[in-house]
Amino acid sequence: LPPLRVGVAGLGNVGATLVRILQKDGAELTRKLGRQLVVTAVAARSRSRDRGIDISGLDWFDDPVALAKSDGIDLFVELIGGEDGPAFAAVKAALEIGRPVVTANKALLAKHGVLLAKLAEESGAQLGFEAAVAGGIPVIKTLREGLGSARIAKVFGIMNGTCNYILTRMGNEDISFADCLKDAQALGYAEADPTFDVEGYDTAHKLSILATLCFGYEIAPDKIRVEGISKISQHDIKVAAELGYKIKLLGIAQRTDDGIEQRVHPTFVPKGSAIAGVDGVMNAVALETDHVHELLLAGPGAGGPPTASSVLSDILDIARGTRVPPLGVPSDELMPYREAPMRAH
Ligand code: HSE
Repeated sequence: LPPLRVGVAGLGNVGATLVRILQKDGAELTRKLGRQLVVTAVAARSRSRDRGIDISGLDWFDDPVALAKSDGIDLFVELIGGEDGPAFAAVKAALEIGRPVVTANKALLAKHGVLLAKLAEESGAQLGFEAAVAGGIPVIKTLREGLGSARIAKVFGIMNGTCNYILTRMGNEDISFADCLKDAQALGYAEADPTFDVEGYDTAHKLSILATLCFGYEIAPDKIRVEGISKISQHDIKVAAELGYKIKLLGIAQRTDDGIEQRVHPTFVPKGSAIAGVDGVMNAVALETDHVHELLLAGPGAGGPPTASSVLSDILDIARGTRVPPLGVPSDELMPYREAPMRAH
């Protein structure tokens, strides 16, 4: 097989980690795959910024769309972020010419996922997005390939590492919400705009993607009832603890008799339950199906290495020629939205 030439747009935390892994482990990956895997080109805002990687030998693009369409690559990796703008334009441009794309961009998929999946289906391009939901945990793979025969009744979980880090620390120490958030930002877990994390929008983006895969549901994060954790105080956490609960920010989507219900809010979870044990910068996604009563996938959900490793797993699947439908369901089966009532988990 000819080498697979990878172009990476966006050299932030995840992008730089990915390039580092591919440069360092390239020979080993080539042995495993029987095919050379090489980063040939990158696009980012600044060429000179020190990222701890050597990009001097790579083709440089100022414009991610030009990189996405370039003849010098076989696979386009989008790690720019943002729901519109250059990320959307570049992913669309690559899919339109039938070029495989791997993205970690949950905001982009939450807004344009159905359109991009249709484009991918039409042009025969693969669209990988394992890293968009729950960082290093292979939840998308599980849903796209592993649970084909099971009917999923409910999917819920902790999908934002920043919020879980904050709530965990507030439960263990007498520390304020604002101080915990500052630390999460310094550790590189939070979004560029941390409002997305703490107000629950990032969880809503990820939940929409999961709900579409589970239920063939219209992706509509703007219609989900969303409440974040910015108003949670030490008092709330202590009251929960006295009653035998922890507070977790959960995203929940489930089948009901008249449609699919989706919501994001701080939730009391019983101490001693599996989900309550998921602490720190961790994510967990629980699936309730008719065959497996409850399956819990848990692991590191944010940060450079876990996210880059999920991007890499999509790249390896594409290099091997594995084919899976982008959203796992024909788009004409998408179900309508149903207003979620206020109620407990
Ligand atoms: N800001 C996100 C989080 C990063 O804290 O979970 C991973 O999507």
